[in-house]
Amino acid sequence: MSTASRGQWSGRLGFILAAAGSAIGLGNIWRFPYMAGENGGGAFVLLYLGCVLLIGIPVLFSELAMGRKTERNAVGAFRALVPNSWWPAVGYLGIAAGFGILAFYSVVAGWTLGYLGHAFMGDFGAAMDADASGALFTGLIGDPLQAVGYTALFLLLTILIVRGGVSAGIERASKILMPALFAILLVLAIRALTLPGGMAGLEYLLVPDFSELSAGAVMAALGQALFSLSLGMGAMVTYGSYFPKEENMPQAGALVALADTSVAVLAGLIMFPALFSAGLDPAAGPGLVFVVLPTVFNSLPAGTLFAIAFYALLAIAALTSTISLLEVVVAYFVDERKWKREKAAWVLGGVCFVLAVPSALSQGGADVFTSFLFDTSFLDIQNIIWGNYALSIGALATCVFVGWKWGIPKAIEALEASGHRMAFASAWGIVVRFVLPIAIVVVLGFIVSTGRYF
Ligand code: PHE
Repeated sequence: MSTASRGQWSGRLGFILAAAGSAIGLGNIWRFPYMAGENGGGAFVLLYLGCVLLIGIPVLFSELAMGRKTERNAVGAFRALVPNSWWPAVGYLGIAAGFGILAFYSVVAGWTLGYLGHAFMGDFGAAMDADASGALFTGLIGDPLQAVGYTALFLLLTILIVRGGVSAGIERASKILMPALFAILLVLAIRALTLPGGMAGLEYLLVPDFSELSAGAVMAALGQALFSLSLGMGAMVTYGSYFPKEENMPQAGALVALADTSVAVLAGLIMFPALFSAGLDPAAGPGLVFVVLPTVFNSLPAGTLFAIAFYALLAIAALTSTISLLEVVVAYFVDERKWKREKAAWVLGGVCFVLAVPSALSQGGADVFTSFLFDTSFLDIQNIIWGNYALSIGALATCVFVGWKWGIPKAIEALEASGHRMAFASAWGIVVRFVLPIAIVVVLGFIVSTGRYF
């Protein structure tokens, strides 16, 4: 299929915004603070930053190189580079992970719509303490009708954009909204840091206490780095495949990683000061962000307007991520199975909704799913399986492929195809071939040896 008929970003900025839109989402604002809170704060943050630098960014470049060279989807890229081998299985794992992630991500994204509704009703204008905020949260996520309804609505929005195609749909949505989100986060961070007792939160976030570190925390940091950058499941292969030939890919990739990591750190700078100020427990789990933030809005001038803007932007940030999740699956069916984009978006989005229902009901809506296995909810289990394990295995396999099968020189050639040089190219090659595979195997090995998977 020619490039023109597959679609292409309108330029480097179009790619950066769309890829940053994929990367920046609930992973930064919802998942990062709660993972950090559950895994010891500052030490986790350091580990996470280390994983971004040593594992995330090298995987990002591996995926982008494959996408650019082949102009294919997650499965097709492997197939194009080594025909008649089992390597495309890595792509299939990625597609499964895309589905698996979308099926719980859309539930949490649905909560943001519920919160947007509350914001419009002015519920965040009055003083709200931790108890009142907690009650609002449990009421929303535990109500089967709202939980499933908002999930359906969110998937519907995702389908409507993905069926529009790469540039028209995906790019346009990201262009204005990402910078707006960044601005609003900045204001919130300043407010949170100046709340009474906020400095204790800053200390918790920035001063590492390594006695808190466990194998589970290292695994969580690795998973979080991959999840946050949308890696290990072919999203960046797919997005890289639409990258314009004449543009500087290494630089664009670096900017995406920088933007994503900054938003995560910024979210931490909001969440932990606010949390300590409101007297909440950092290890409160997936509800953390939803419970903490409403305690902050009323302390701002025009709190209601602020809350509306924040939840609208959070929903949009989540939307640019769900778009990329569905796009990975749709691109495969369009390229490899010759489905029409329209049909692929509706059918696959519909299947995903069915898979999402148990997660939607797992927060109090139905007891079977609330404590599904190991005393953990269905949603949490999906989050760990797909978000941590599937992405880690996917990233490991991708790097072994690029480093040992396809070859570093060819990958660098693809990254530098526009004539722009890639900085640290030889260091990158060493990391992809040696450091990264060993690191991921060691982390997974620790988990298996302790037997504590969740
Ligand atoms: N990176 C997205 C986020 O942080 C989630 C995501 C993961 C999207 C994997 C695509 C692939 O919200």
